[in-house]
Amino acid sequence: MITGGPPESAGAPEVEMTRVVVVSGGGSGIGSAVAGEFAAEEAHLVLTGRREQVLRETAGRLTAAHPGLPEPLTVAADLSSAGGARRVADEVAARFDRVDVVVANAGGNPAAHGGEAIPEGLERTAWAWSENFRVNTLTAVLLTEALKDRLASPGGRVVLISSIAALRGSGTGSYAASKAALHPYAFDLARELGPRGITVNVVAPGYIRDTEFFSGGLAAERERALIEQTSTGRAGTPADVADAVRWLAAPGAGQVTAQIIQVNGGAERGR
Ligand SMILES: NC(=O)c1ccc[n+]([C@@H]2O[C@H](COP(=O)([O-])OP(=O)(O)OC[C@H]3O[C@@H](n4cnc5c(N)ncnc54)[C@H](OP(=O)(O)O)[C@@H]3O)[C@@H](O)[C@H]2O)c1
Repeated sequence: MITGGPPESAGAPEVEMTRVVVVSGGGSGIGSAVAGEFAAEEAHLVLTGRREQVLRETAGRLTAAHPGLPEPLTVAADLSSAGGARRVADEVAARFDRVDVVVANAGGNPAAHGGEAIPEGLERTAWAWSENFRVNTLTAVLLTEALKDRLASPGGRVVLISSIAALRGSGTGSYAASKAALHPYAFDLARELGPRGITVNVVAPGYIRDTEFFSGGLAAERERALIEQTSTGRAGTPADVADAVRWLAAPGAGQVTAQIIQVNGGAERGR
């Protein structure tokens, strides 16, 4: 439950409300930590991702940690397809009359998860660019578009998870570009939804430890190099990102919209 309301209700008594919060990629890493933030306010959680078992395990862990939490709704769907995103929206609509917060967090690095399916040469370039746009851009855009008409008005919140790579490149271009595509989408959506009292923001994390992003782990030397780029001298955690998302989703953040919030220990500036 969260107390408060948008500025439009200033002067009215504060009300307690149970928010409906949709988190994509909510079963692991950053998404799981984001779900934990909203579990602490006993929100109605909707966790979506492709692996039902992973979603159920996270829902079970959150329910055990927060006895007052309403049972989370888990919806297994591939959000890079219109059908997958529509199914999530349909299940949400069947259970709730509105959505308060959408956290479009699903995404990843296809090269780390592609296995032997990754082709060579120019075909590899074509594969990497189309896969990254599918996994990182489409998953966020389709889910958001599927849910935007149901967003609480006023007071709805959209947060898209991008990356430091979108601001400075990622070495291969395709992952960075697929995340950067979310930025102008967020700016346009903020203009579209602003009159309804809904904010749209982007959180761009730097290197975050303890996720499934780097399938099989990150070489110690590479991790050291990433940490050395920070001013804080440490890797980011899923909780660092989740805390920024919680702040952007708070009722008091109603005037913060169309922004890119970086959570990277200063790494974008370098050392
Ligand atoms: N870790 C980092 O250093 C870092 C840095 C910057 C940005 N990010 C971004 O942070 C976000 C969360 O990643 P993470 O680091 O927490 O890694 P993660 O643990 O691998 O989480 C990614 C989540 O996205 C889901 N997902 C992937 N493709 C999907 C699809 N087509 N449809 C539905 N769900 C899908 C995955 O679940 P399923 O596999 O079950 O579908 C998984 O739960 C990603 O967008 C990532 O690009 C991560």
